[in-house]
Amino acid sequence: MTRYDRDFRLSKDVLPSRYELHLDLDLDRWTSSGRARIALRVAKPARELVLHAVELEIASATVDGAIALEGHRTESAAQVVVLRFAEEIAAGEHTLEIAWSGGIRESLRGLYRSVRGEERYAATQFEAADARRAFPCFDEPEFKATFSVELTYPSGNAAIANMPPERTEDLGGGRTRTRFRETPVRISTYLVAFTVGPYESTPEASTPSKIPVRVWLPPGLAAQAIYARDAHVRSVEWLQQYTAIPYPFIKVDAIGIPDFEAGAMENPGAITYRTRLLAADDTNASIVTMKGVFSTAAHELTHMWWGDLVTMRWWTDLWLNESFASFVGEKCTASLNPQWSYWRDFVADNTSAFNLDALASTHPISIEAKNAEEASERFDAITYTKGAAVLRMIESYLGEDIFRAGVRIYLNRHRESNASADDFWHALDEASGQDVTTIMNAWIKEPGHPLVTFDVRESGGGLDVTLSQSRYYSDREADASPQRWPVPLVLRYGTAGAVREERVLLRDASATIRLDGARWVYPNAGGRGFYRWQLDENGDRLLDDGVKHLAPEERLSLVDDLWALTRSGRASLASFLRRLDTLAGEDDRAVLASISDALSWLSSFAVRDRTEAAFTRFIDAFYRPIFAKVGWRPRDGEDPDTREKRARVIGMLGYHARAADVRRDARDRALRHLDGVEPLHPDSAGVILGVAATDGDNALWDRYVKRMQAAQSTDTQEEARFRQALTQFEDGELAQRTADAIFSPLIRTQDRGLMVIPFLQGRHTRKAAWHTVRDRWDTDIATAEPLLKQRFVNAVSQLSLPEYRDEVTRFIESKRTTDIAEAVKQSVERLRINTEAAERLAKELEEALAAPAKR
Ligand code: BES
Ligand code: ZN
Repeated sequence: MTRYDRDFRLSKDVLPSRYELHLDLDLDRWTSSGRARIALRVAKPARELVLHAVELEIASATVDGAIALEGHRTESAAQVVVLRFAEEIAAGEHTLEIAWSGGIRESLRGLYRSVRGEERYAATQFEAADARRAFPCFDEPEFKATFSVELTYPSGNAAIANMPPERTEDLGGGRTRTRFRETPVRISTYLVAFTVGPYESTPEASTPSKIPVRVWLPPGLAAQAIYARDAHVRSVEWLQQYTAIPYPFIKVDAIGIPDFEAGAMENPGAITYRTRLLAADDTNASIVTMKGVFSTAAHELTHMWWGDLVTMRWWTDLWLNESFASFVGEKCTASLNPQWSYWRDFVADNTSAFNLDALASTHPISIEAKNAEEASERFDAITYTKGAAVLRMIESYLGEDIFRAGVRIYLNRHRESNASADDFWHALDEASGQDVTTIMNAWIKEPGHPLVTFDVRESGGGLDVTLSQSRYYSDREADASPQRWPVPLVLRYGTAGAVREERVLLRDASATIRLDGARWVYPNAGGRGFYRWQLDENGDRLLDDGVKHLAPEERLSLVDDLWALTRSGRASLASFLRRLDTLAGEDDRAVLASISDALSWLSSFAVRDRTEAAFTRFIDAFYRPIFAKVGWRPRDGEDPDTREKRARVIGMLGYHARAADVRRDARDRALRHLDGVEPLHPDSAGVILGVAATDGDNALWDRYVKRMQAAQSTDTQEEARFRQALTQFEDGELAQRTADAIFSPLIRTQDRGLMVIPFLQGRHTRKAAWHTVRDRWDTDIATAEPLLKQRFVNAVSQLSLPEYRDEVTRFIESKRTTDIAEAVKQSVERLRINTEAAERLAKELEEALAAPAKR
């Protein structure tokens, strides 16, 4: 008897082409029963058929209505059921009919339940490999087929699936049956989706190309989803033009489910979301949230082409889905919202990828996943953000038109089918006439990224620049790596009268280039390259004159880059603070955010009791003048940047400068909001409630929880703000109340990790946070879904302080399981490196604060 292990892969001797699925959903008992007809092509005669299935009770199976089932066995490691038939199944076309029963589960994957008050929902989440928890299937991305779905469910609910309904019948007895149309193209199993519940929808809108678009939400929320609906309309239209391929899936429904593991999921025609990413408009959501709503919609809709129409062959190339959805989604968002100057946000987001990729425990963008569990570890900042950044880097180097031409070749060639990385690079080779494959293989198949150092010498009225590269590690002691990348650099430099760009492909360890007439050079034009860089002292001094000519993206990446070098000990804190001095008066919201991130890090990790007073004074002095300009409340018609900046400045003063007046004022404003006297503006409501909480008491804590609960069914933005603000109560007993609340039914599982990150970060809350995470691990965290579990593992690296490091390290190492193995390794490395950095910078900070004049 064959035994299959957890690395089991389906044989291509049996290929499905069409599924007719019927599911009967019982929302009272949370059970389901199903039957399917699956059209198969069998290459070799066989007695057995192997399908994926997890926690499904197989009731019957026949082939062609004639060949009976002799028996079946479940192989749980491989997550398959092996069906053994009474006779041999000949090579050729067959129909498998199979029936089963299963649950509507509590965990957020497969076919699962969601509850809001008295309302009951059944929903699906199948990526990466959980369709097998809902129906027996060939659950690998290459096994594409068409699907037609039929659902039977309690009458009075809405039923939504990938395709529009074809027929709905009242069966009597409180049951309704809806049959949906067959998908027009073959799709992978992880993209099948259906849901049933008391949803309400927005009015239908339609793209100029006549694709109908609606948003579905729990009762009472749909009126808030017009912005999200229109973001979908506009994105579909943009993507059709960019790809030159019509939207392939007939309609767009965007569905907000009360309980949801990820942020959103790209099921064709039935995109699922957290409710908060759809129920957001000018009256209840901040500018930051609105940007998130738009870019999430654009990301998911980009998947309709990258992922749904052309699918990666296997999870090894997950980045072909996620890096593209991120990059092209951001292009769509940026292009449709010029008022946001959105590329700054893209460059700022790169920080998370740089940080992860600077660890020895990072992984290449493209890396083998042996099984579903390993695949679920790939949804990280490397796959999403580094992948997107690397695409942007090559686009910047080749030019947008050539890149788009390559994209179109790729999508057309592989539509309705599967592709690998090489398929895309070959398309770019073709479009550009260059050997893109060789350049890009290093970037996707090697871990890490280079540090490019610049030695700058003035000569003959220009600059001679020597470039050298080596792999960049956050840990300076890490073993030197012989790795080299073909680095497509785009430099910005200033001459007497102009600012110019120079393209250089650095192929070797080092190279020298000449910049005629240059007076200064900036190493990463537009922040579009995914490399770290360091100017020598001379180059750094020359750049002082260039700073004022740099674009905001460039100033932002200047700060971010130098801050990374400072944390890794390659630059001193004094030199970082000197650079901030040259940026004095900086007004750009995104550059200020990048500065704020660095200062917040110092505040969380490098400030000690003896430096707290001087540091808070420093922060106060830095942000007061900006606060004086922006004030507490927005003015009519204010630009989005000022709106976003205000929240940042209030946070820096209230949290990190611990400014008593700001905290007091925030508290008054929070109370007026709670009393309904003067509602807070959504842009800064979150931060004001958080700052008000810092010195808050029991009574305020109670009011926050009450308000959070009351908002649940009417305003998910307000609910989220009060929920997050709970993590800011600093008093020891209140921090403990928050800790207990996080793991109580008061907070949905989906939201716990999001609360724990700031909670572990706060100097005054981290102790209660850690003790609770530690004590709840086995009961509440180990049992969670992979994404949620990984979030906790990452979050504990916030405890990068000498008094926690060793305990936390030993603890998470002892909790290592296969679905978090990689996250544990990364978190342990972060704990070690960041603790060292924090200790070093604590000393440097003390010196800098004692002698600010020396800068
Ligand atoms: N395909 C993912 C959703 C997903 C992630 C499913 C992990 C299963 C495991 C989806 O397209 C996605 O990337 N969602 C993001 C939001 C996006 C705007 C970055 C998410 O959920 O965070
Ligand atoms: Zn995605």
